[in-house]
Order: sequence, then C-alpha cells, then structure tokens
Amino acid sequence: MHLDVVLLSRLQFALTLMFHYIFPPLTIGLGLLMVIIEWLWLKTKDPFYKSMALFWTKLFAINFAMGVATGLVMEFQFGTNWAIYSRFVGDIFGSALASEAIFAFFLESGFLAVLVFGWDRVSPKMHFFSTCMVALGSLFSSVWITIANSWQQTPAGYHIVKSANGFWRAEVTDFWAMCFNPSMVHRMLHVWLGCFILGAFFALSIGALYILKKQHTAFAKKTIEISLAYAAISSLSMLASGHFQADAVAVNQPTKLAAFEGHYKTGSGGTPLYAFGWPDDKEEKVKFGLAVPGMLSMLVHGNFNQPVTGLDKFAEEDRPPVFIPFQTYHLMIALGMAFIVLSLLGLVLLKFNLLYQQRWLMWLYVFGVLGAYTANEAGWIAAEVGRQPWVVYGLLRTKDGVSHSVTAEQVLGSMIMFGILYSFLFVVWVMVMNTRIQAGPPVVADIVKEDEKLAPISKKGVGQFMAVVGNLLQRGPASLSETWRGPEPTNTSPESVPESVPKPELEPEKELKPEKEKEQIEEDQP
Ligand code: HEM
Repeated sequence: MHLDVVLLSRLQFALTLMFHYIFPPLTIGLGLLMVIIEWLWLKTKDPFYKSMALFWTKLFAINFAMGVATGLVMEFQFGTNWAIYSRFVGDIFGSALASEAIFAFFLESGFLAVLVFGWDRVSPKMHFFSTCMVALGSLFSSVWITIANSWQQTPAGYHIVKSANGFWRAEVTDFWAMCFNPSMVHRMLHVWLGCFILGAFFALSIGALYILKKQHTAFAKKTIEISLAYAAISSLSMLASGHFQADAVAVNQPTKLAAFEGHYKTGSGGTPLYAFGWPDDKEEKVKFGLAVPGMLSMLVHGNFNQPVTGLDKFAEEDRPPVFIPFQTYHLMIALGMAFIVLSLLGLVLLKFNLLYQQRWLMWLYVFGVLGAYTANEAGWIAAEVGRQPWVVYGLLRTKDGVSHSVTAEQVLGSMIMFGILYSFLFVVWVMVMNTRIQAGPPVVADIVKEDEKLAPISKKGVGQFMAVVGNLLQRGPASLSETWRGPEPTNTSPESVPESVPKPELEPEKELKPEKEKEQIEEDQP
C-alpha cells in the first residue's frame, strides 16, 4: 500500500491541532465569564458570587494546563514534519510566537498563580486585577498565533530571499504590516467570538444540567442568566463578524470562497447562495441543495445579477478541494444560527418566568456545548482546507513544505502514538472535569466562615501580592499542589496562629451543617 507522506503529515497536524483547539477557546471564553462574576462579587460583596468564581476558576485552571501541554506538541511538529515550511516562515512565525511567549504567556501564567491560589492571600481588588490579567493574557496569546495563521492566508510585510544554503525564505520587512496583514483583524474578532460562544455555552450546559438534576439551583439559575446574555451578545455579533470574514475571503482568497459555496462555474448571471447541499466534483455542481438565487452575488458585489468568480477561472493545480470546505463552512453557519435562536429563546422565556420548566430546552443547552466545540473546529477546517493547495497562500505549496527526511511510515507511527496518548489524555480530562462539575460550587456558608477568618489580611493590597509571589517562588512548585485555602500551619493551636495565616478548620467540613441545610442556604441566595 502506498502511503502519502504529505497527506499523513497534514492529518497528523490536523489531529494534534484539533485536539489542542478543545482547550484554549474554552479558557478564553471562561476568562471573560470569570471577570464578569468576580466583578459582581466586588460590587455586591455577596459571597455567593465568590462561590461561583471559585467554581469557574478550578475548571479554567484544568483547561489552561491542557492547552499548554497540547500546544507545545505542535511547535515541535513544525520542525519534525514541516522543515521546509518552517525555514520558509521561520522569520515571520519566530517573531510572532516569541511575542506570544513574552507578552501573553508570561502575563497569563504569572497571574494564574494568584488567581488560583491567592484568594485568601491578596485583597479582593488585587485578586480581581489578577483575574483580568489572566483573561487578557489568554486573549493576547490568541492574537499572536492568529497573526501567524493569518499571514499564511494573506501574506504581507515580507520579501523573499535565498539563504546561503539555497533555501528560500520569507523575511520580515515591515513588522506592523506583517502583524496587521489583510485578514488579521477580521479573523481575530471572529476567533474571539467563537471562544466567547464556547465559554457561554459551556457555562449554560453546566447550569442546565444542575437544573435538570435539581442540584445547586441558585448557582445554576444565576449561571444560566449570565451565560444566556453572554451567548446572545456573542452569537449576534458572530453573524456580523462572519459576514465581514466572508467579504474578506471574497477579496483575498476567491478560490476559497468558490469552494465554500461549491461554485464551480462562473456563468453569466447572479450566483446562488446555498443553505446546504452535496457538491459533486465530477459533475461540477451542488446536488440536493437549497439555494437563494443571486444571493452570493448580492453579498459579494451588492448586486443580484453580477456573477461571482468560480473555480473554472483558476488553473486546476491552484484549486482547493470543494467537499470538505463546503460542508464544514455550512455546518459552522448553521450552528451559528442555532446559537442565536437558542440564546434569544432562552432570554425571552426567562423574561416571562417560563424558562426553567422547559426540560427539553435544558437538555438542548446541556448538549449545546458540543455544538459550540463543533462550530469552532469546523470553522478552522473550512479556513485551512479552503487555503489548499497552498500552505502559504500563493507562495508555498503544501506538498513543497514537508520535511524531506521524514518517511510516511514514521509519520504514521507517530500519528498512532499521538492517537493513543491523546485518547488517554482526553479520558483523564473528561474525568477530572466531571469530578469538578459533579462536586458543584463550594458551599456559600463555608466561604462566609473562611472570609471571616481572613478579613484582616485582605486589605494589604500590592504588598500582600508581592509577598505571595515571593513565597511561591521560594517554596517552589510543591506549593502549587496546595488548595486555595493555603497550607496547613505547622502549629495547629488556633490561638497561636498569626493573623496572616489561615487558621485550621476546627471541625471537619462535612460536620459544619447537615447537607439539606447547606443546600437551603444556597437556595436562599439570589
Ligand atoms: C454565523 C455565521 C458565520 C459566518 C458567516 C462565518 C464565516 C466564516 C468564514 C468566512 C470563515 C473563513 C475565514 C477564512 O478562511 O479566512 C470562518 C472561519 C471560522 N469560523 Fe466562522 N462564521 C460563522 C459562525 C461561526 C461560529 C458560530 C463559530 C464558532 C462558534 C465560528 C468559528 C470560526 C472559526 C474558529 C474559524 C477559523 C478562523 C481561522 O483560524 O481562520 N464561526 N467563519
């Protein structure tokens, strides 16, 4: 059997990237949600919001760790499987990825320690500041990788040089033109909105699950209220962003737009826009489809009768495949529409106090998060497969970018290894997330007790923050395994514990209140 090294390398990259792309969009989406909830806590001083913030922080931290671990793999893959491509884009990607590490990753991971472990060690304002920095850091890191990806789609601010060892490479001539290449801004906004939609539907799914199970209902209702508004704003903005994206694709990558729309022949009249269909490469037409006549012409040219350029106007070797971009593009749009309907419907029912009785809708919300993951992955597939046969649009073909020394058997072997390892990681991730979600938010009454004990230290602001960071550095990574309550003091006599150290629990947590009573306290909260 003949194994194609280019196809296998592409599949391997797709596998590792799509697995990686499960995590960062969620951390970006949850980052903003955590900022909103913690701001509500600062504003109202209600420990109920602190309980919510603690819950989301733990889920955020798990996903952050998974995102870092799976992201590193891809950087190595550039070198192993895509050596020619790496040489070609090294200057461009080098500066963007180094900027990501310096500006974003350090910001995000530095403040993450305070976010996760600093609840009882810095003032609420300082903690809120750290949460904002972590959310900002995760947004920033997506900026640099999106710059790199956008540059591949619409290269700018470079010239091509031949290096001493005979390889061609792109060299940056204008850093800002490279960063703000023609598709960067629209793509960035679109990617962010995809992350916000995922964050909103993730929270919505957990809230709906608790409603169905009649658990943590006060937490669930507040979560659903916030995330429905978050989902509605993001999904509606996505519609506008998607339109600008498609406009930019029409100008910058007409072959990709033709593939998205299964537009094989230019023809002489208006070009239809398909809602769905089945493109047939042999007959060069879309079968079993539903189309609005002239609509693509209207969106691209503002005129129902002017034809949009089809694939027939391009040389055969420059055309992308049609089936995958067409289906993934239409799936993404269909899901985008579904998110708008689901979130607006939820808000209307909420307004008339009818939402929580609709069990069918709660079930849709529980599974809606899978739709949000799918839309993000589908969008990425559409954008990247639609760019083919180029790895750098118009400059370097994908088949010319692979490493010369790697064999198909080696790629297949490493792909199987990734498959096994990632399946294992996936199971672990699901189990850890499930344990956290089943455990629910911390009980509000416990938080009140903790805060009462900690009140004196919570006013020391920046000084306290510096002390915490110093402490963490001094004690090393072992201290990171401590819970948010901090370490047990060595002297366990409550009287002898200094004010700045959290005092030990006098009784085991479970004995503080009988389970029913605890739930009642939660229920009584807004
Ligand atoms: C509502 C209608 C939508 C439209 C019209 C639309 C349009 C587009 C277009 C034209 C592209 C290709 C951009 C390119 O190749 O340069 C794209 C890519 C993408 N879309 Fe959408 N989209 C929509 C909804 C969504 C939704 C709901 C999500 C996720 C929740 C999403 C996530 C993505 C992602 C992740 C990409 C890949 C971005 C990249 O890295 O290039 N889109 N979208």
